[in-house]
Amino acid sequence: MYSLRDLPTPAKLVISCFLCAVGLGYFSAMVQLHLQHSARDGDPLPNKADVVEIFAGWKTATEADKDPKSKLQVLIMGPIEGAPFNGSGSMAAAFYTKDSDYKSAIKDDPSSKDSLDKERRGEQVALDEWLKLPEPERKKAFTDNKLPIPAALKDQPITADFLTEDKKAIKVQELFDTRCTRCHKEGGDAASFRLETYEEIAKYAVVKKVEIVDGMVRSERQIGIEKLTQSTHAHLLSFAMLFSLTGLTFAFTSWNVKMRCLVAPMVVVAQVADVSCWWLARIDGVGPLFATAIIFTGTAVALGLVIQIFGSLWDMWTGKSRLLLLLVLAAGLAGLGAVVVKAIVPALEAEKAAKKV
Ligand code: HEC
Repeated sequence: MYSLRDLPTPAKLVISCFLCAVGLGYFSAMVQLHLQHSARDGDPLPNKADVVEIFAGWKTATEADKDPKSKLQVLIMGPIEGAPFNGSGSMAAAFYTKDSDYKSAIKDDPSSKDSLDKERRGEQVALDEWLKLPEPERKKAFTDNKLPIPAALKDQPITADFLTEDKKAIKVQELFDTRCTRCHKEGGDAASFRLETYEEIAKYAVVKKVEIVDGMVRSERQIGIEKLTQSTHAHLLSFAMLFSLTGLTFAFTSWNVKMRCLVAPMVVVAQVADVSCWWLARIDGVGPLFATAIIFTGTAVALGLVIQIFGSLWDMWTGKSRLLLLLVLAAGLAGLGAVVVKAIVPALEAEKAAKKV
């Protein structure tokens, strides 16, 4: 039976170089996969969550998705320090260090800080609870300047100035005016963002609801149709050709027939399955399952290719030339290992460090 071994040496050399080139090409494809699709957090390859997000367009819902808040709530309940005092940071300092009364009270009597902090915290909670109210009630509480004490304030002191005389409600408009509108009005520090009328305030009180399905929310990282089409065409046309050639090479080795029937077509088949899953992952409901399958089809491609390359090279050369092949392969793998240790591992470490900051 005709086998790869019977080829003239020059042909075997060409095929060997071809197989090595495909191996290197595949390795560089992995680097590209990392750069393009992984979370760039030091993991070498995209993980399951990345793949589901990219192909199916779903990601795990965060706490913020489960309990969506308006911009005002986020700014009012944000950190007191450590975040910039602007619309993308936190306005919480308005209740504390940005208030001259607060600062002078602590200067006069440092021991009052604890109880003062608790009262100011009460103010934050009161505004947060007020913002949680449905629209008509929220508006009414503001215009009446009367917010019935919310449950969250049962055990929480609040600055007495903002309680109504009967102590059963909070003067919510006055509270907002004192802590916020003081800057957010004509002539104030933030005059370009007026928060004087209820309508002006309400614009920032809108809660953007996100749809949660099975604990997942839509992600904007999903690959677009245009890019997917382009990728599909490039992968199917060029890889069908490439992997058929590596497969044919393996098919002509002298390995056991069953093994050859399995491994020779395996890479092309896995690649077609892989590309199919990219598209099937876009189907509502079952999408994430197909996206997860991409990890397995991708692994099958890699595994098949490794067997085809090394299995063919090993089978093609015999006797002394096989020894030479081993030496060349060892040198090549050592070179690749050096690239991994010297360049790739440090780059991944750097990503990990950058992600932590
Ligand atoms: C000491 C002045 C001051 C106080 C008090 C203050 N703010 Fe601000 N606020 C600012 C400044 C300054 C900015 C940033 C404006 C800019 O980006 O130019 C800002 C930004 C904002 C923005 C973002 C506007 C936008 O569209 O980017 C909102 C909303 C806001 N503040 C709400 C509040 C609320 C609610 C309070 C009360 C808890 C408050 N602010 C108290 C000064 C203040």
